[in-house]
Amino acid sequence: MLKRILLLFCLVTLATALLSANSGKRAIPAQGVAGIAADVAQTVPDAAAQNDAVTAQNVADAPKLIAFTFDDGPHRGSTDRLLDGLRERGAKGTFFLVGQEIDEARDLVERMRDEGHQIGNHTWSHKRLDELSPDEIAQEIGKTDALLKTVAGKGEYWLRPPYGFLRPGTENLVGVPVVKWSVDPRDWESRNAPKIIRAVTDAVQPGSIVLLHDIYPTSVEAALQLIDALSADGYQFVTVEELLRRNGVTPAPGVSYRSGDLQ
Ligand code: NI
Repeated sequence: MLKRILLLFCLVTLATALLSANSGKRAIPAQGVAGIAADVAQTVPDAAAQNDAVTAQNVADAPKLIAFTFDDGPHRGSTDRLLDGLRERGAKGTFFLVGQEIDEARDLVERMRDEGHQIGNHTWSHKRLDELSPDEIAQEIGKTDALLKTVAGKGEYWLRPPYGFLRPGTENLVGVPVVKWSVDPRDWESRNAPKIIRAVTDAVQPGSIVLLHDIYPTSVEAALQLIDALSADGYQFVTVEELLRRNGVTPAPGVSYRSGDLQ
């Protein structure tokens, strides 16, 4: 009996010792890991979080500039509705005007000027410049430029060639910066505001130059809805001239610009 009690005592003692040793083994490293984790939490992740916060703050502070451009006008009925919408939203745009359309809508061109939009030259009769002789090119551009100077005043009226075509070697005939685009929703083809909105939303990024045509009511509707949605996302709508200037680009005659970032 005594042997059994002694054996039981020994077993209990051994078990207690083992348990305590095990719990000790578990407890010490567990505290150590927790301690290290606490130190890490107080140092490295905090620094990383601060860096993230700084980066996020910089991104949030950096203006997301975008230039909407409107070709082929002025066109009474749609251009004036667009001008109303831009004014309501405090947004600026760039209008590339077809020379032969200007006389019928001089008041709209004056509004563009007075309301802070950029006015550009889209040739006199919207012909492909790459299919014209140098004299014809100079005439298509020069006649429109002269009328713009009469209607909108002195200034430099940058060129958007119809369809974006300009024959290499004829850039010296232009005399002003050439504006192309980085986002083309093909609004003239779909004439469908939701499709235009989707195409622009999918492609747009800070510095984009977006090609639209203010002669279509669907394009005007899409532009105004896009301005509302993209403004809520932090975008600011500026002229091409301002987009380039604020991106540190100095425009030069005969050079094509497709976005705020590229020359
Ligand atoms: Ni055009």
